[in-house]
Amino acid sequence: MEQILKGQIAIVTGASSGIGAGCAKALANAGAIVIVNYPFDGAAAAAQAVADEIKKNGGSANIYKCDVSKEDEVINMFADTVKQFGTVDILINNAGVQKDASLTEMTLDKWNTVIGINLTGQFLCAREAVKEFLRRGIQPERSKAAGKIICMSSVHEVIPWAGHVNYAASKGGIMMMMKSIAQEFAPQKIRVNSICPGAIQTPINQAAWGTPEALKSLLTLIPYQRIGQPEDIGNLAAWLASDYADYITGQSIFIDGGMTLYPGFATNG
Ligand code: NAI
Ligand code: BGC
Repeated sequence: MEQILKGQIAIVTGASSGIGAGCAKALANAGAIVIVNYPFDGAAAAAQAVADEIKKNGGSANIYKCDVSKEDEVINMFADTVKQFGTVDILINNAGVQKDASLTEMTLDKWNTVIGINLTGQFLCAREAVKEFLRRGIQPERSKAAGKIICMSSVHEVIPWAGHVNYAASKGGIMMMMKSIAQEFAPQKIRVNSICPGAIQTPINQAAWGTPEALKSLLTLIPYQRIGQPEDIGNLAAWLASDYADYITGQSIFIDGGMTLYPGFATNG
C-alpha cells in the first residue's frame, strides 16, 4: 500500500481481534507505527500475534494493555505512548462489546458495561488524543491535520435494534459525540469522523454467520450479498486517517454492502 501514513503514531483500541486487528494491519501497511491495544491479560497473546504479523510484513507495532472504560488506564496509555514515540497522530476508537437482552431482561450491569466501554471509553480516548494533538500542533511533514480520530460506530447509529438497546444507544451516542468534538476542534485542524460498518465477520457477531442458515438469513439484509471483512474496514480507516481525506470531518461513513438501503423495499412498499 502507498505509504500515506508514513511515520505517524496510531493507537488502535481493541486491536487484538476483528475490525481493530484489521485496522492495525492496514494502518501499518500504510506506514504508521501502531499501538495494538488490548484490555486484559487473556488477550495479550492475540495482540502479540497481530503485532508479530505486522512486523513480519515489514511494519512497526507494539502492544499495550488498557481497559478503555478506566480513566486512569487511558491516561497512562496516552502518556506512555507519547513518552515512547514522541506523540500520537491517529486514534482509532474501536473497542466495543455487545451484551444483548430484551429491554425487560436488560440488567443495569449490561447497560453500564456497554455504555462504559463503547461510549465512555471512546470519550476518554478522544479527550486524551485531542489534548496531545493540541500540545503538538500541526507539523506539515507529518500531516496537514494536527490529529485524526476515527470512531468505530455502526449501522446501528441509525438502524434501531430490538434486543440491543444498550448497544444501539451507545452507537447513537457516538454519532453526536463525534460530531460535537469535530465541530469544537475543526479550527485547530483536528479531524474527527466515524466509520459505520454493517455486518463484518468477527467474533462479536459469530452467531449471525457461524452456520449456513444464519448466514443465509443475514444475507437477506445485505444487498451486496456478502458479509464484510475486517480488511474492508481497515482500508477505509487508513484512507480516512490520511491527507487524502483532509477535507472530511464530522462525518459518519457507512460501509455496509447496502444494509442501510432498506433492502426490504426492493420487493415491497
Ligand atoms: P471483536 O469482539 O472482535 O472486537 C472487539 C474488541 O474490543 C476485542 O478485541 C476486545 O478485546 C476489545 N475490548 C473489549 N472491551 C475492551 C475494553 N474495555 N478496553 C479495550 N478493548 C476492549 O468485534 P469487532 O466486530 O471487531 O468489533 C470492533 C468494533 O466494531 C466494535 O466497536 C463494534 O461495535 C464495531 N462494529 C462491529 C461490527 C461487526 O459486524 N463486526 C459492525 C459495526 C460495528
Ligand atoms: C453489530 C453486529 C451486527 C452488525 C449488523 C454491528 O454493530 O456489532 O453484531 O452483525 O452491526 O447488524
